[in-house]
Amino acid sequence: MIRFDVLTLFPEMFESFLKTSIIGRAVSSGLLEIRLHNIRDYASGRHKVTDDVPYGGGSGMVMKPEPLVRAVQALEPCREAGEPVILLSPQGTPFRHERAQYFATLRRLILVCGRYEGVDERVKELAIDEEVSIGDYVLTGGELAAMVVIDATARLVPGVLGDGYSSVEESFAQGLLEYPQYTRPREFMGRRVPAVLLSGDHKKIAQWRRRKALECTLAKRPDLLERAALSEEERALVDTSRRASRTLGDQADQHEESKHPGCEGSRGRIET
Ligand code: ADE
Repeated sequence: MIRFDVLTLFPEMFESFLKTSIIGRAVSSGLLEIRLHNIRDYASGRHKVTDDVPYGGGSGMVMKPEPLVRAVQALEPCREAGEPVILLSPQGTPFRHERAQYFATLRRLILVCGRYEGVDERVKELAIDEEVSIGDYVLTGGELAAMVVIDATARLVPGVLGDGYSSVEESFAQGLLEYPQYTRPREFMGRRVPAVLLSGDHKKIAQWRRRKALECTLAKRPDLLERAALSEEERALVDTSRRASRTLGDQADQHEESKHPGCEGSRGRIET
């Protein structure tokens, strides 16, 4: 069971997200609880203003500190030690699988969604424990980022993905991209499903998948391999394959990759 308290000016953005598919099921089964709090409810005055012009000039509006800090403080009485208040912001630490794994061990997280050009800096000093970014681009607000964090975290909570599915076995959990997947039909537009997947030999299938996960990662996200959990033998294979591609030179590499998109490029071939 995990609980997210989300502070937002646009709670309606979460409606279909919370009702749909795996997240919807986790909510109805009680494994996931999401409480939405409208920041506007903590604004004062008849107009409940939540933003203002920036001191020093400049374009855009800044979220005022009072409503945000009050909204966080309102959650204080039921907050236990170690439950973080997280601001979604492009200035935050990049959100990665390892962080999702850590968040999934917590009982509760508070997610604060910024809007406009940002939030008054004093909110960060007074009420925020950590800033999280979902990527190097600027969204119109933190709501989509909050949904990304909730989704990636909730699916790692035991039971959320359903019995028999283990997110621990996912190749991403070991720092690699996923191997290619196939379903019926066996042949589609002249392309056959790799024979090993039809062989019924589970050991061979597992070896093939592992090799493909390595190839895919080498071809598409070689940066991930630095931190991936590889056996000594795999590490040596990856290094050999990398050295080989370096000697081929960049031009040849690019040429090969345009001929064979996906995981089959020269840089992504692992010879065993
Ligand atoms: N708010 C706006 N852009 C964002 C980003 N890239 N990540 C998290 N929150 C954001």
